[in-house]
Amino acid sequence: MNDEQTTGSVVRVGIIGLGYAGETHLKSYRQLPNVQVVALAGFEEDKLAHLGTTYEVPHLYHHYEELLARDDLDAISICVPNYLHAPIAIAAFEQGRHVLCEKPLARTGAEAEQITRAAIKANRVLKVVFNQRARGDVQVLKRYIETGSLGRIYYAKASWMRRYGIPGKGSWFINKEMAGGGPLLDVGVHVLDLALHLLGEPRVLTVSASTYTEFGGRDDAVNKIKPGKFYVGSKYEVEDLATAFLRFADGTTLLLEASWATHSSAEDDFGVTFYGTEGGAEIKVHNYNWQDTLRIFTDMVGAPVEIRPQLTRGEGHLVAVREFIAAITSGNWSVDKGSDGLYRARILDACYASALRGREVPIAGDGTIAT
Ligand SMILES: NC(=O)c1ccc[n+]([C@@H]2O[C@H](COP(=O)([O-])OP(=O)(O)OC[C@H]3O[C@@H](n4cnc5c(N)ncnc54)[C@H](O)[C@@H]3O)[C@@H](O)[C@H]2O)c1
Repeated sequence: MNDEQTTGSVVRVGIIGLGYAGETHLKSYRQLPNVQVVALAGFEEDKLAHLGTTYEVPHLYHHYEELLARDDLDAISICVPNYLHAPIAIAAFEQGRHVLCEKPLARTGAEAEQITRAAIKANRVLKVVFNQRARGDVQVLKRYIETGSLGRIYYAKASWMRRYGIPGKGSWFINKEMAGGGPLLDVGVHVLDLALHLLGEPRVLTVSASTYTEFGGRDDAVNKIKPGKFYVGSKYEVEDLATAFLRFADGTTLLLEASWATHSSAEDDFGVTFYGTEGGAEIKVHNYNWQDTLRIFTDMVGAPVEIRPQLTRGEGHLVAVREFIAAITSGNWSVDKGSDGLYRARILDACYASALRGREVPIAGDGTIAT
């Protein structure tokens, strides 16, 4: 493969992983005219055959190594357990492929750094999927914040809370080595990303966090578990609630919380809230709904006003996939090297370090823990 082959022609893609993420990538690529999904890999025999037939993917494999051994792929989608993100991405870059990687970029900041270094060395595109940014409510709020209408935002909240949502009894998600962490890495990274993205990427100065494991290991918590994830026979090893308080360089603070299991009114609820000097805004998403999820608060002629914009659903993964392919075909491969995924991985590292130490930790300019 050389540089000319992927500039302006059909991009040949291989997808690794057949779960929600893998299938969503596949459906998204299939909507783009200049992409051919050449190969799929994953262990679930029936699903592999079904996806291969339904979406006309000619080459089907079980192990990711078999897919990477092909010499005709321009790009790879990584949709597998988190511990495999780094080895697959680094191998793909060494072969000169572009990489679209599911969130979180990796289990730790150090691993995420290895991936971004490999992308830079190979001069290939590395895009991390933060698909919630493409929601209709987030897009409207982003544009509204950019007008300056909220004034100076001084406090924010980002939350993803489930009442019953541990992903899979015995799955890789609850295995520390395979996942790297629990809901903070899994869903917390989405809402941390939304907060940082909507606030215009402020620099984090300090983090103070706590983690709890209250339900995951309990036999009577069986009703808190959602089935259907890749089974590895793991016992419960990660947190089921994390809470963190972040201070930014501009004085703004953020309260972050993420849980798979709580006694609470939450079902599967996430969102962000912003408090500004001229207005406030909140996105509250209940069970992945998209209508009437954004409210903007201000005062008008001395009276409180609440605005509820009419929203669209947004395109989710399709946006990330489209931007990934556009970056590849543009030939300007310096545009995305996964720096947002790396920064978030480092901030989450700091959250876990703070929880372990039981105190606030300072953050250096690049997101690593300052000594
Ligand atoms: N952006 C999102 O909204 C979103 C949603 C779900 C998951 N994800 C991310 O996607 C990734 C996968 O999550 P999921 O929910 O789809 O998981 P899953 O457990 O449903 O699927 C994992 C897939 O990986 C495959 N796999 C495991 N080891 C493999 C190997 N050695 N070779 C080839 N295939 C292998 C399994 O066969 C399975 O098909 C995770 O990083 C997760 O955080 C992102």
